[in-house]
Amino acid sequence: MTMELLDRMTTEAERAAQPSLTMVVSRRAQISPRIVALDLVPDGGATLPAWEPGAHIVVHLPGGLERQYSLCGDPDDIGSYRIAILREDDGRGGSIAMHALAEGDTVDVTLPRNTFPLEDSESSLLLAGGIGITPLIPMAWRLAREGTDFRVVFAVRDAEDARLARMLPSQAEVDIRISGEGNRVDLPALVKELPANTAVYACGPSRMLDEVASWGFELQRRGGAVHVERFEASAETLAGIHVAGDTEFRVTFSRSGDTVTVGATETIMECARKLGKIVESSCEEGYCGTCETDVISGTPDHRDDFLSDDERASGETMMICVSRAAGGGDLVLDL
Ligand code: FES
Repeated sequence: MTMELLDRMTTEAERAAQPSLTMVVSRRAQISPRIVALDLVPDGGATLPAWEPGAHIVVHLPGGLERQYSLCGDPDDIGSYRIAILREDDGRGGSIAMHALAEGDTVDVTLPRNTFPLEDSESSLLLAGGIGITPLIPMAWRLAREGTDFRVVFAVRDAEDARLARMLPSQAEVDIRISGEGNRVDLPALVKELPANTAVYACGPSRMLDEVASWGFELQRRGGAVHVERFEASAETLAGIHVAGDTEFRVTFSRSGDTVTVGATETIMECARKLGKIVESSCEEGYCGTCETDVISGTPDHRDDFLSDDERASGETMMICVSRAAGGGDLVLDL
């Protein structure tokens, strides 16, 4: 499988040294009943750092909530950052808090980071499910400006959510499939008809992404590649966060020297927080990469959706929201 997740975000130690930006909501647009788009401009008029398609920011919300959102505006617009938020009524409150923001409110955000970069390719397919269109919108702008061959396939639940496609550049060839109208994307047919040397960029529900990720070997054989960004954990990852037979293990946090025992049904992140450590997180389900932490010694039992096979094998970092110690051994982490 060729699922490339390149240009890894910085790890916890590096992130701690990064400045954040205070931003003002300059425009709030209700795209659909469930989706709002916010334009954020720097408080005080500072110049914003440039970013590349696929980048995201982490928004710090009141009450310590942090949420990661892809930048979904035109990447050549350096005056503002645009994000779009799907309201999840059964979520942990982050999207509700984001929907409550009004024009003029301020929020702190991190600098843009990119774990889903656009790469040189003869032709590209941008494949989105619902709010997963957001990181692909700047890619479409960039590809349209470059004159590179690309098309967008956008699967949505209803016509209201399809309004997100209005953020795409007018040059984009867009195939919108509305499942509520019985018009679903036929993924097996789609991969068969892809021309050689096509790079696929996909973001959406894990069911879709699991199938797209499985195309990697076939597309690589045809000179292409698959790049996936997840907004939710795969069923396999969720089922594997705690499994029968998990045992306790010890973790030492090198910066304080504290050692804790992580119980069979606990996570390293939970134990770190009990000690009062500030641990940056977003998904807490192993797919966003926010909690990536350097491993100083010991062997992780990786249970995330984020690291590549090579990164897992290196054992240099781990996602402390889900991953554990292999064989119940000890870990020393840079935390
Ligand atoms: S918080 Fe998202 S991978 Fe750990």
